[in-house]
Amino acid sequence: MKIITSIVHMQALAIAPEREGRRIAFVPTMGFLHEGHASLLREGRTRGDVLVLSIFVNPIQFGQNEDLDRYPRDMERDCHIAESCGVDIVFMPTAAEMYPSGFQTGVTVQELSLPLCGASRAGHFDGVATVVTKLFNIVRPDVALFGAKDYQQLAVIRRMTEDLNMPLEIIGMPIVREADGVAMSSRNAYLTPSERQSASCLIRAIRRARELFAAGERSVAVLLKATRAVIELEAAAIIDYIEFRDCVTLQEREVADDSTLLALAIKIGQTRLIDNSVLGELA
Ligand code: PAF
Repeated sequence: MKIITSIVHMQALAIAPEREGRRIAFVPTMGFLHEGHASLLREGRTRGDVLVLSIFVNPIQFGQNEDLDRYPRDMERDCHIAESCGVDIVFMPTAAEMYPSGFQTGVTVQELSLPLCGASRAGHFDGVATVVTKLFNIVRPDVALFGAKDYQQLAVIRRMTEDLNMPLEIIGMPIVREADGVAMSSRNAYLTPSERQSASCLIRAIRRARELFAAGERSVAVLLKATRAVIELEAAAIIDYIEFRDCVTLQEREVADDSTLLALAIKIGQTRLIDNSVLGELA
């Protein structure tokens, strides 16, 4: 497994497979890898001849009062996980090289970036779209894999790839959950044991909504009330949003159907957690 920190070196390594008709599969991450990332890497391994993982804590997708400085990092452990998943190249650029002085270009996916997490994290998806565009230009993948836990991010990246005619396939992979149903996230590392227990209110709320939907309930007002009630039982959880939206356009819905996305964000202590479920999809 090669570890590459320079952008030109990574670009040079990407050219050979392209010329030889070998496919590059790419998993972009911010590191502190967990089983969710490992599932992307294992799937990437089956879809490409060369598997590239990037680890880059992207400063421009964090707001002023967010957790950029304390975002968890463990390069040694990440490299072990990467190796065990069959990664060929780990690309770890520096922020100084990704955003040198004079850098002033950004990518905005307009409407999809505004609701949900975009409403409470202004500029977040511009930062994501910009870094993912840069990473695609550097790694030149044929296929890139993203987890569905960051559902809006996946929607933004799909739209961007299509709108800008980027020549690659985007694969969304199912959420990987802990035994109690909590979605795996690098940010779970911030939670104290009691906060970690409280975090399971997200999956309990999702299950309640799915149960009602499966029993025939289609009114978003009713589904919302029931979902909110589950979260409100958890004293430690502060709701940022609970919303029912179309799973492709992210437009608000009043009547739920199989393609309705339930998306939630809460804060527990200092930690912001998100989760989601498309009501018509298998859990
Ligand atoms: O999901 C993440 O880890 C990040 O948002 C991504 C896609 C690597 C961009 O920095």
